[in-house]
Amino acid sequence: MSPTPGDAQDLLREAQEIAQLGNTEFFVPDSGVNYWSPQVYRILGIDPAEPPSHVRIFAGLHPEDRDRSLIAWSRAIRGTGRLELSYRFVRADGAVRHIEARYRLSRAEGGSLRAVGTLHDVTERKTAEEEARRAQARLNEVARLATLGEIAAGISHELNQPLAAITNYARACERLLAAARPDVTEITQALEEIAAQAMRAGEIIQRLRGMVRHRETHRTVVAANDLVRDVMSLLEMDARASRSALRFDLAPDLPLVLVDGVQIEQVIVNLVHNAAEAFISTGETGGEIEIRTRRGDNGYVEVSVADNGPGLAPGVEARVFEPFFTTKAEGTGLGLAISRSILEAHRSQLSYDANAPRGARFTFTLPIAPELS
Ligand SMILES: Nc1ncnc2c1ncn2[C@@H]1O[C@H](COP(=O)(O)OP(=O)(O)O)[C@@H](O)[C@H]1O
Ligand SMILES: [Mg+2]
Repeated sequence: MSPTPGDAQDLLREAQEIAQLGNTEFFVPDSGVNYWSPQVYRILGIDPAEPPSHVRIFAGLHPEDRDRSLIAWSRAIRGTGRLELSYRFVRADGAVRHIEARYRLSRAEGGSLRAVGTLHDVTERKTAEEEARRAQARLNEVARLATLGEIAAGISHELNQPLAAITNYARACERLLAAARPDVTEITQALEEIAAQAMRAGEIIQRLRGMVRHRETHRTVVAANDLVRDVMSLLEMDARASRSALRFDLAPDLPLVLVDGVQIEQVIVNLVHNAAEAFISTGETGGEIEIRTRRGDNGYVEVSVADNGPGLAPGVEARVFEPFFTTKAEGTGLGLAISRSILEAHRSQLSYDANAPRGARFTFTLPIAPELS
């Protein structure tokens, strides 16, 4: 004997259980005729002996979702059509369920409003999404710490130099003072050297502090071109100092990006500052620095800072993003390292390529903000 198909009603009930979907019918004003399918009782954790009541759902709404839901309802019941709502429902035992509700509203006889709806329990999906978000945040934190670990290793190395110099000069002072007729000029020179080295050490620490300070990133939806415009006067100072010309090639109609604006402005300033310093180091005039924005591919806006200066020497290219790598006597070697870690925290990239016919070009991407519907 072959199996017989189940009863349509039973199958529907079973399907609702599998889908965690319940259905309801009620009237406004309350006519006393209400329907909840068994799955609604299960989702809301309400005793099936209780009569169905949409007022009971309002009573169980999570306090943070209550006002919004009631406003949506009071708006919807003035007309007809559809209403979609998502809210959290707090069961009598305190458990919270995430519900997506859909209603179709129509006029019933006598002018009352008939609402037919479904309640979908999406708690598992919401929990998984929440978990994924938390995992991503932990991952970002680990990445940040890893960068900091690298930086800390570099810093202890970097601090050794001024500290060793300070020790040497201090010893020299001792020796000079022990002489029968101490040479004041030499001692003064040694002391000046000590002060200068101490300043240098302090500066290194200062920079590190700025980086390590756990600043909550603050992302907002902004126009990439506005980030460039915000720092324009700073950039112009660099251009003037290096006697180079600043050019802007900002694409119109770019999609908005979702970034920490202050951090991205820091990146732009760093890159332009490096370009200006490259001109200053060679003493060449007639240099050009161009800042360009473009729509990149797959969800990013692309920003580049290019110059026609000396560019990166062979062998240097591979190392410029390392913390403390610098070719400048007064450099910290942190500008590009910090810029790259800022962009990585934005799940974006910073890369270098040679500019043609000469010079350097640094390009980074910024994530486009999700469309708000
Ligand atoms: N536009 C550029 N042109 C030539 N060299 C550059 C440019 N930008 C960066 N560099 C090189 O990369 C190195 C690292 O840069 P950065 O991390 O900003 O540290 P710093 O500017 O303190 O040296 C610089 O010392 C320089 O050699
Ligand atoms: Mg720099």
